[in-house]
Amino acid sequence: MTILAIESSCDETACALVKDGVTVLSSVVATSKELHEKTGGVVPEIAARKQVEFIVPVIAEVLQGLTLQRGIPDAIAVTVGPGLIGSLVVGVEAGKTLALVLNKPLIPVNHLVGHIYANFIGGAQIAFPAVALLVSGGHTDLILMRGHGDFEFLGGTVDDAAGEAFDKTARILGLAKYLGGALVSQKATECVVNTLKGQLPRPMINQANFDFSFSGLKASVKRLVDAEHPPVEVVAREFQEAVVEVLVAKTMRAVKTYHVRSLLVGGGVAANTLLRAQLAVECKKVAVALHIPPVTLCTDNAVYIASAAYFNQHFVELKNVVANPSLGIMDKV
Ligand code: KG4
Ligand code: ZN
Repeated sequence: MTILAIESSCDETACALVKDGVTVLSSVVATSKELHEKTGGVVPEIAARKQVEFIVPVIAEVLQGLTLQRGIPDAIAVTVGPGLIGSLVVGVEAGKTLALVLNKPLIPVNHLVGHIYANFIGGAQIAFPAVALLVSGGHTDLILMRGHGDFEFLGGTVDDAAGEAFDKTARILGLAKYLGGALVSQKATECVVNTLKGQLPRPMINQANFDFSFSGLKASVKRLVDAEHPPVEVVAREFQEAVVEVLVAKTMRAVKTYHVRSLLVGGGVAANTLLRAQLAVECKKVAVALHIPPVTLCTDNAVYIASAAYFNQHFVELKNVVANPSLGIMDKV
């Protein structure tokens, strides 16, 4: 079964064609990120206008060379939320139109669930039950996954997401005005000795739950920088270590509590090298299979939307497919 998927939840416009949820036949991503770098944050109106500009060329590039009459694609999938409403509606309406004119079923997809399905691309054999850690710009969630579409929410951030804390720290350190997670991580590699070790808090690390809190950590970075003006690379390293220690501790608590066979990680922060390395060490100790997508599949694209759609085939009447900007990971679509 070949699915054509569309993703337009924020500032990326993406389309992909994926066979049986695992084999990528085509994938195109356009982004308006550079425009938001200038303003220091995503401007929803600009993101939406760029979605309108990009959506047809991006879909056209994926469709190039396809003989639609031969039955490909078998279905259309589209991200319905969460995200920016103006961005989401562009993809949703494009998806509905394609489904209508090609007379194919439409599968709505929750973007957050999509991030987790990036792990299925390539055909990895994933044993359930699994714990899924979703770490993106807007979300930090721990989920118990007993099978496809069988999710139980274990915990999540009570304030800022991990990615948001990375982005705000990047701004405090003068590394980037928008989406600076990768730059903080890069800067941290320049620090040879962490002379600030333990100076930043590891919020909620000892609490016997699966929740996170990152807003206090970001405030502590600001206080430390304002008071002591330490070298940027040392702060970057200490901040990264604090976030990763908390993410790893809480995730491994969930892995051990539920005796799962696999750990799946998804979202932009899953690109973080230290997080990947630390989870690998801890999973090895308890013989749990760790799955983290390649870095290119951690950030927003339509490939994982197609995979999530394939493994959760749930066809919805076109008139009932609507964009929902505030969808949570447990919300049905
Ligand atoms: O999943 P994503 O592309 O967008 C959302 O759906 O939110 O995640 C973007 C987030 C940003 O906060 C970005 O700074 C962070 O992922 N990020 C990283 C790294 N690469 C991207 N954070 C830490 N280390 C990285 N290497
Ligand atoms: Zn995302």
